[in-house]
Amino acid sequence: MESKLPHILTSLPGPKAKAIIDRDQQVISPSYTRSYPLVAERGQGAMVEDPDGNRFLDFAAGIAVVATGHCHPQVVKAIQEQAARLIHMSGTDFYYENMVQLAETLARLVPGGQPRRVYFGNSGTEAIEAAIKLARHQTGRGQFIAFRGAFHGRTMGSWALTASKSIQKKGFFPMMPGVHHIPYANCYRCAYGKTPDSCAVECVDVIETELFRTTLPSDDCAAIFVEPIQGEGGYIVPPKKFFDELRRVADDYGILLILDEIQSGMGRTGKMFACEHFDVVPDVIALAKGIASGMPLSALVARADLMTWPLGAHASTFGGNPVAIAASLATIGLLERELIENAARVGGHLMARLRDLPQRFPNVGDVRGLGLMIGIELVHDQKTKERAPLLRDQIVQMCFERGLLLLGAGPNTIRLCPPLVITKDQADFAAETIESCLGAIGRP
Ligand SMILES: Cc1ncc(COP(=O)(O)O)c(C=O)c1O
Repeated sequence: MESKLPHILTSLPGPKAKAIIDRDQQVISPSYTRSYPLVAERGQGAMVEDPDGNRFLDFAAGIAVVATGHCHPQVVKAIQEQAARLIHMSGTDFYYENMVQLAETLARLVPGGQPRRVYFGNSGTEAIEAAIKLARHQTGRGQFIAFRGAFHGRTMGSWALTASKSIQKKGFFPMMPGVHHIPYANCYRCAYGKTPDSCAVECVDVIETELFRTTLPSDDCAAIFVEPIQGEGGYIVPPKKFFDELRRVADDYGILLILDEIQSGMGRTGKMFACEHFDVVPDVIALAKGIASGMPLSALVARADLMTWPLGAHASTFGGNPVAIAASLATIGLLERELIENAARVGGHLMARLRDLPQRFPNVGDVRGLGLMIGIELVHDQKTKERAPLLRDQIVQMCFERGLLLLGAGPNTIRLCPPLVITKDQADFAAETIESCLGAIGRP
């Protein structure tokens, strides 16, 4: 694994990978979405090796999870030492120090300078479920605002907030009532036909002018759930005034502003949390994915005066597992010492290379992002902006065959969410590979 660039030895999948995929197809839930046949055997930094010895550059990071790269030695050491000392005790019933230490760390990191309290879960969706319950409990209100294109998880509460793909809804009704979805601040495809110059933040204005007058009494609205950068929806970056207005509406009507930073948080955007780019202070923030470099952990960090629910109101057997927490403390140390800065620097370099793709390739409609959270939206026509989902899938597949692991986001966007350890050379390789694939599909 010494090489830091891809090396493909077999056709894909190779024979050993294929044998594993054949077995997988007999026993694993067919609901998993595998974009292409990658079998991972080991990983180091931004590189992943399959069982046939093919080496890939990972710009997917286990869905934006391995923030410090695969198997960072300091994270591995922290996990090994903690596993030898104490694997599980259940923070619900007993105390252990590293859980307190991580809560203190997160409370310090979340912007706003207010006292904070932390609830630990194991996955993003658990943090969102906790947020739904906390919001209902503390406000005494039962309804929520969320955004079209949002992804907040797939369990019953978070799934009701999710408005990403209809296949995620089909056949599962009824769902948690009381969620009102409104268009997100997608300036490339403004739902209100505005341009950045003519925008009066209609996408927030609609809350007061339509929702509160028609279907949602303002004093029944517990919280607004919003991703600072819409992740699964297509890596969409809203303007700062979107958050200014959301904060104002929330404050005016006693509604909680709950930021889902499960994908955008933990250094990915070149700041610890994406909300710092927009100077918005959340009442509650949900974290997972990158928080522990691949160990299952999530955290819900709330204003201390909000997280006052009584003993037994909410808890989890495994949430805040000591080994996951040790990984998280090591991860945050690395992020603060070097990797947030690397995400900003290499992300800036990558964006500088990609920004003019729309001028160079007719199928690229938009390139957007912050730090190492970058989306490339594919269209059939730059004027009509007709989405090109199949072209997107084709590029992702072609990049895989050239050793670059990517994922889609939204119907027609390529997402770049590499580990935050990537080098400029790796960023250049990714950009060149994507450009060569874009060039290839562009030819008749
Ligand atoms: C913004 C956001 N929220 C919530 C989730 C759900 O996280 P998990 O899959 O860990 O439950 C995701 C997962 O992609 C996400 O991107």
